[in-house]
Amino acid sequence: MSNTDAKQCPKPDRPEYAFIGRSNVGKSSLINMLTNHSGLAKISSTPGKTRLINHFIINEQWYLVDLPGYGYAKISKDKREAWSGFTKEYLISRENLMNVFVLIDSRIEPQKIDLDFITQLGRNQIPFVLVFTKIDKQSSRKTQTTIDAFKLEMLKTWEELPPIYSTSSELKAGRDEILSFIEQTNKLFKQ
Ligand code: GTP
Ligand code: MG
Repeated sequence: MSNTDAKQCPKPDRPEYAFIGRSNVGKSSLINMLTNHSGLAKISSTPGKTRLINHFIINEQWYLVDLPGYGYAKISKDKREAWSGFTKEYLISRENLMNVFVLIDSRIEPQKIDLDFITQLGRNQIPFVLVFTKIDKQSSRKTQTTIDAFKLEMLKTWEELPPIYSTSSELKAGRDEILSFIEQTNKLFKQ
C-alpha cells in the first residue's frame, strides 16, 4: 500500500519498521536486499524517487516501510526538510512502529540534516538504529572513520549510542544482522 496520509496506513496489527535517510542514500536498494526481491522498492539513478509512505508486508508477519528521502534540493522545500509533512505525522502517530532504520552514507562526514533528524526521533521517543550504507564503495578503514566521526558528533548531545549496522546492498552485507534485529524486536510487539 502506498499513500501520503498516516491515517490511511494498514491496520497497525503487526510490528512495523521504517527505513529513512537522505535521498539517494540507498534505502530502496537496502529494502530489496533485505527482502531478496530485486524489484520491490523502486531504485533510481535520479534521487527523490520515493515520494510516498510505502508499506510492504513481510512473511505475513511484519510491515516494512519505505519512506521518502529527505534533503534533496530539487523537490519542494517541505520535502527537503527531514522532519516535516506526512513523514513527521507518520513517525509520531504510528502506534505499531517498533524501530526506525536511519540510513547514513558511509562515505560522507556527519551531516546536520541527519543529526537534526535523529534529535527529533529522540525528542519524540521513537526508537532507532543507524545503518551506514554503500560500504563496498570504499575501504573498511574509511567506513570506520565515518562511523567514529558520527559517534563523536552524537556523543555531544546523547548519553547513549544506538545500535549501528554497516551494509552494502551490492554485497548483501549486514543483511543477517538487520533481519535478526527485526526478528528479536518482533517478539516485543504487543497489540
Ligand atoms: P530515493 O528513493 O531516490 O531517495 O533513493 P534511495 O535512498 O531509495 O536510493 P536507491 O536505493 O534508489 O539507490 C540510489 C543509488 O545508489 C542507485 O544508483 C543504487 O544502485 C546505488 N546504491 C544503493 N545502495 C548501494 C550499495 O550498497 N552499493 C553501491 N555500490 N551502490 C548502491
Ligand atoms: Mg527510494
